[in-house]
Amino acid sequence: MKVSFSKPGLPKDGAVVIGIVGKRLSTAAAAYDDLTDGAIKRCIAASSFEGKENQSLAIIAPERTKLRRILLVGLGKKMGDLELQNLGGDIVEHMEGAEELSVSVIVDCGAKDLINAAVQIAYGSRLRAYKFDKYKKKLKGNQKPLIRNFMVHVKGESLARRTYASLAKVADGVFFTRDLVSEPPNVLYPVTFAREVRKLTKLGVKVEVLGEAAMRKLGMGSLLGVGQGSRRESQLVVMQWKGAAASKQPVAFIGKGVTFDTGGISLKPGAGMGEMKWDMGGAGAVAGLMKALAGRKAQVNVIGIFGLVENMPDGNAQRPGDVVKSMSGQTIEVLNTDAEGRLVLADALWYCQKKFKPRLMVDLATLTGAILVSLGKEYAGLFSNDDKLSKQLIAAGETSGEKIWRMPMGDAFDKMIDSKIADMKNIGGRWGGSITAAQFLLRFVNDVPWAHLDIAGMAWSDKNAPTVPRGGTGYGVRLLDRFIRDYCE
Ligand code: BES
Ligand code: ZN
Ligand code: ZN
Repeated sequence: MKVSFSKPGLPKDGAVVIGIVGKRLSTAAAAYDDLTDGAIKRCIAASSFEGKENQSLAIIAPERTKLRRILLVGLGKKMGDLELQNLGGDIVEHMEGAEELSVSVIVDCGAKDLINAAVQIAYGSRLRAYKFDKYKKKLKGNQKPLIRNFMVHVKGESLARRTYASLAKVADGVFFTRDLVSEPPNVLYPVTFAREVRKLTKLGVKVEVLGEAAMRKLGMGSLLGVGQGSRRESQLVVMQWKGAAASKQPVAFIGKGVTFDTGGISLKPGAGMGEMKWDMGGAGAVAGLMKALAGRKAQVNVIGIFGLVENMPDGNAQRPGDVVKSMSGQTIEVLNTDAEGRLVLADALWYCQKKFKPRLMVDLATLTGAILVSLGKEYAGLFSNDDKLSKQLIAAGETSGEKIWRMPMGDAFDKMIDSKIADMKNIGGRWGGSITAAQFLLRFVNDVPWAHLDIAGMAWSDKNAPTVPRGGTGYGVRLLDRFIRDYCE
């Protein structure tokens, strides 16, 4: 779908969308009403449409025009950016259902800042129009419902175009994450994932990839143990975006990249195991974020790091009971091979601090099933050693619509991962599973503001939301782009 902006006008064909506040016709709506001999007013009179938010009214094949339809949408009183994005997404859903190929949206009333409203609607439409259908080979191109052109008419179209351009880069980042998360695990595994990320070099991102030999030299026994039962080589991807002066300390993002999580020798039950292809959602978000930041040339120094492993149960696999030594020097008793994400993150977090001395670190991971029990699919769990960073992330969650909820941490939880024979164990028992996982990570954090986002409930969705079609959601990209815009640039 191509999104474009144009000056106010009255399109003559395709589908037209007009926003209305209450029952008063906007200039464009009144013009179409004249053109159609009063069809619009008559339709409104014959319906329950009152121009409230979330209401719409379709006028099919309006007389005396070549239009396929006019869709009136209620703008309500005061719509914020998120509501306007949702409206854009809802328009796409409606128009795809109606098999429209060309959609024009006229923004001429309803907001103080019409240009911003137009931009937000366009952004939402773009986010919703995403498709992952490359493996649907039986559907021919013209059988896939597809809007080709989405044109937004607004006064001040060139400013709208410029403002949208930066958001479109964020959408590109979101789509990169969605693509990575949706790819099947026979196609996307550590080496191929790293290969995809190397393509960001074209945008000016520096990408380094460490293989198993290099990681062994660094002493990353914790990460390597997870991948040792797989035929596929583990990788550590290190990305750098330098958008500010070299003297500025970087902000770092770290991701869990388990390209498939069978559980290892602590094998998961068969039902639903296929979902574990998206156990790399944290790494996917970090990759998408780097793409967004480089795309819009963010004025900040950013490090993106993720460990990529496949957690498989072959004859060489790690056993429950094994003790491994992490890069930090701390030893870990691996009592459940399915609690592997924290083992990967431990070495990635340590490496990040040693190598880059970041001013803050945020990690993202589909870490625990328990966070779904706590927060469902509405909020990611936030765990942090820093109140200021937590507040900023929560605020960015509210403005971006990718919400997070802070969870408690503390010594009582930390004790639960003490091991009898090693420095710690990788499980903390039945209760507070997301918290003991976070406490484990905290043991690999030195004196630096750190936040961990448990996104197990957020990386994937089975149902459509206005700006997020079902499948890989791209969760985290919009949140962290917002965080960087508001607090780091
Ligand atoms: N990848 C899973 C977490 C997960 C579960 C994500 C369900 C999304 C949906 C993680 O590696 C895992 O298996 N965690 C275990 C930890 C337990 C063994 C301590 C879990 O949550 O059950
Ligand atoms: Zn697991
Ligand atoms: Zn996992």
